[in-house]
Amino acid sequence: MKKNVLIVGGGGREHAIAYALAKSPEVGKLYCVPGNAGIASLAECHGEIKATDIDGVIGFVRSHPDIYMTVVAPDDPLAAGMVDRLEKEGMRAFGPRAAAARLEASKSFAKDFMKKYNIPTAEYETFSDYAAAEEYLGKCGYPVVVKADGLALGKGVLICEDRAAAEAALKEIMLDKAFGSAGNTVVIERFLRGFECSALAFCDGKVIVPMTTSQDHKRALDGNKGLNTGGMGTFSPSYRVTPETEKRIYDEVLLPTLNGLIAEGIEFKGVLYAGLMIDGDDIRVLEYNARFGDPETQVILPRLATDLFDIFEACIDGTLSDVRIEWSAGSAVCVVLASGGYPEKYEKGKKITFGKLDDDVIVFHAGTAFDKDGNYITNGGRVLGVTALAPTLKEARDKAYDSARRITFDKVHFRTDILKELG
Ligand code: AMP
Ligand code: GLY
Repeated sequence: MKKNVLIVGGGGREHAIAYALAKSPEVGKLYCVPGNAGIASLAECHGEIKATDIDGVIGFVRSHPDIYMTVVAPDDPLAAGMVDRLEKEGMRAFGPRAAAARLEASKSFAKDFMKKYNIPTAEYETFSDYAAAEEYLGKCGYPVVVKADGLALGKGVLICEDRAAAEAALKEIMLDKAFGSAGNTVVIERFLRGFECSALAFCDGKVIVPMTTSQDHKRALDGNKGLNTGGMGTFSPSYRVTPETEKRIYDEVLLPTLNGLIAEGIEFKGVLYAGLMIDGDDIRVLEYNARFGDPETQVILPRLATDLFDIFEACIDGTLSDVRIEWSAGSAVCVVLASGGYPEKYEKGKKITFGKLDDDVIVFHAGTAFDKDGNYITNGGRVLGVTALAPTLKEARDKAYDSARRITFDKVHFRTDILKELG
């Protein structure tokens, strides 16, 4: 019998998960809360329930006994213990419990964990006292990075060129509480140079299996200018990561992280994502995430050749060592179309026009909705992820941009320099 699956979340990542699960011969009906206008073509969406509404999700699963498994994709409900609650109800859930999701939800916890288990990361200090943090800014080197401890939609990290900028950042986080209680504690760390790589892995609590590599583009504007965002585009595989580096990422980061978690008595089941800075031979962890990356998932899952549902089952059951996870040999590039102004103030409700799209192009929806006439309209900062598949990264890039340019809405913004270095 086919199995019905509920996906919690409503962005491009959840659309990519729905897309991969819909291909599984074992999966029946898909549900999604809250979902979005694109996910609605694959799943029954319930926009009235928020992804962070644990009671709402529990109530939904109770009233739908046909749901076999719930996949919790975003960081907040994981950190708030949605998986713990689902399990308490006797329900099957994919994703780490709150104790394991802390690796993402508290940067100070993650930094102390890395120090304890010799996992390479930037040198740092942690402060809960504003005056002590301010004093430290007088003796540290610059640039320096000031981070709110808790979850802040990927925006609680401020890179400061000099002391004045760092003092302003500290004030914004600790005194003005720009990120709420996430800023009760700050991590101040050394600025690292190099290129960033997203190392995602499936984990069943006992083994950790790396996914294919990918690279994100965090800054809003071309040339890595502008504010940090949730991610403006991705490509996979990362052509800059050699097989030797990939092996080192496993040996020096992923495996020691799993072993550290086991030593702490924390069972991690789900997706572990290490955000890395690589500079020559130097590999360091910038942060951990306890979930699929977004938009990384929009290039990773279309390249997955193994049934995603089988992998989720194995992660939950602790049988991941029995599954052979394979990737297609080709490449994928995703260009994110955002609302003008994102990650700061932007407008919603703009009508989206889709032109003719190339073959092998998948448009994943993030912030989209239907208007009263059933037209697609914008409904968030990141609106669409245009993913193209091709034999090479260069071909995938050209295809993604060809299609991205044919999709229009008022004040659309996207980065035009993804993989520009390939010529
Ligand atoms: P995080 O949430 O810690 O990954 O930080 C978000 C982004 O800020 C990262 O993806 C990097 O682009 C940047 N960043 C964070 N920490 C550092 C650092 N120590 N040095 C340089 N850039 C950093
Ligand atoms: N794209 C970065 C993230 O998902 O955190």
